[in-house]
Amino acid sequence: MPQLQVILSPQEIKQTVERLAQEIKGDYQGKNPLLIGVLKGCFVFMADLARNLDMPLEVEFVTLSSYGRGRTESSGKVRVVRGLRTPIKNRHVLVVEDIVDSGMTLNFILDYLQRRRPASLKVCVLFDKAIRRQVPVPIDYRGFTAPDVFVVGYGLDYDERFRHLPGLYALQEES
Ligand code: PRP
Repeated sequence: MPQLQVILSPQEIKQTVERLAQEIKGDYQGKNPLLIGVLKGCFVFMADLARNLDMPLEVEFVTLSSYGRGRTESSGKVRVVRGLRTPIKNRHVLVVEDIVDSGMTLNFILDYLQRRRPASLKVCVLFDKAIRRQVPVPIDYRGFTAPDVFVVGYGLDYDERFRHLPGLYALQEES
């Protein structure tokens, strides 16, 4: 069995999601923002963030996947599995991502959305693995800076496992 080591407790994550929601609320009063999550990893964070944003908003999702990605390695080309089903022209769009690693996924989705001419386009990321960045990406709301270890829980998986765990954990693979 792989071993899991706690990096962030559910309580630490909860406090940070509340802090992010306060920041976002302050910036989006009267704007009816459209939160766009990148599946699958965002599903837990999106649910908690949206419930903490006590204001009018809408949510939408896109599903992306990367070619040639191993189970613990982020790599290469991004493709759209399920695209937007709603127009975003003139909307205030906030991208909601669980984690940014190389930046490839976020870079791709920002380009994909910008071409649809939203009124504004910002980014909220819970876990920023900044040390792994290959492409510079803008982050407007950042939860944590994550260490350079493979992490699971709170939406993040290893081979589709562990997404349901309430905290963030480092995964040590079996030797
Ligand atoms: C994860 C995460 C981000 C992406 C970040 O998704 O949810 O979307 O990787 O990595 P990058 O910055 O190197 O592009 P993943 O492709 O593992 O799919 P999932 O969301 O379905 O788990």
